[in-house]
Amino acid sequence: MLNLLPFISVLFFLSCSQIVEKKEEPKQEPKKIETPLLQKLEKEYAVIDTIPYLEAYIERIIMVGSSGLGFASGKMQGGFADVSDAQKISHYVVTLAGKHCGDHEMAKKAEMYYTSNCGGCHGDDGKGLNGTFPNLTRPTLLGIEKRKEFLKFKIEKLKK
Ligand code: HEC
Repeated sequence: MLNLLPFISVLFFLSCSQIVEKKEEPKQEPKKIETPLLQKLEKEYAVIDTIPYLEAYIERIIMVGSSGLGFASGKMQGGFADVSDAQKISHYVVTLAGKHCGDHEMAKKAEMYYTSNCGGCHGDDGKGLNGTFPNLTRPTLLGIEKRKEFLKFKIEKLKK
């Protein structure tokens, strides 16, 4: 029996390595189904006037800044807050515009932050300063208006 041990262990090793080899056979990559661009753009266009879209837009600007809207004061730097604070502040900005943010408590928590960090430029009421700092209480923010025009143009072009 003891003599057989090396033989058995070799057999065992071989069968194991076969299993391992089998497992390592290159798997067929599942084919990725890319959503066509037109579909993606149409999906975005369909939600562009919603509050969650508005909040996400404001959040992104708080984090990365804004440029190209043509204000005399130039661009706005980003890095004002991290993701979770940016979320609270965006909720507050939405309430300044007289819209329902869906989480009033969250918005209230950001009031102080807004007043001390954003109010200096955009005004405590969010109405900005004509031509110098954008009004955050417009029915549609300028950046969203621009995006809307871009999407409309792109979608029409892709449909042709
Ligand atoms: C130093 C002045 C300054 C401060 C502080 C500032 N911003 Fe701005 N903000 C600007 C300017 C200028 C623009 C327009 C820049 C551009 O895109 O041309 C702008 C753009 C924006 C826009 C886009 C407006 C639109 O119509 O699309 C939003 C939203 C915004 N700011 C929110 C905030 C929030 C929230 C804070 C505080 C965390 C803040 N800003 C702090 C100057 C400021």
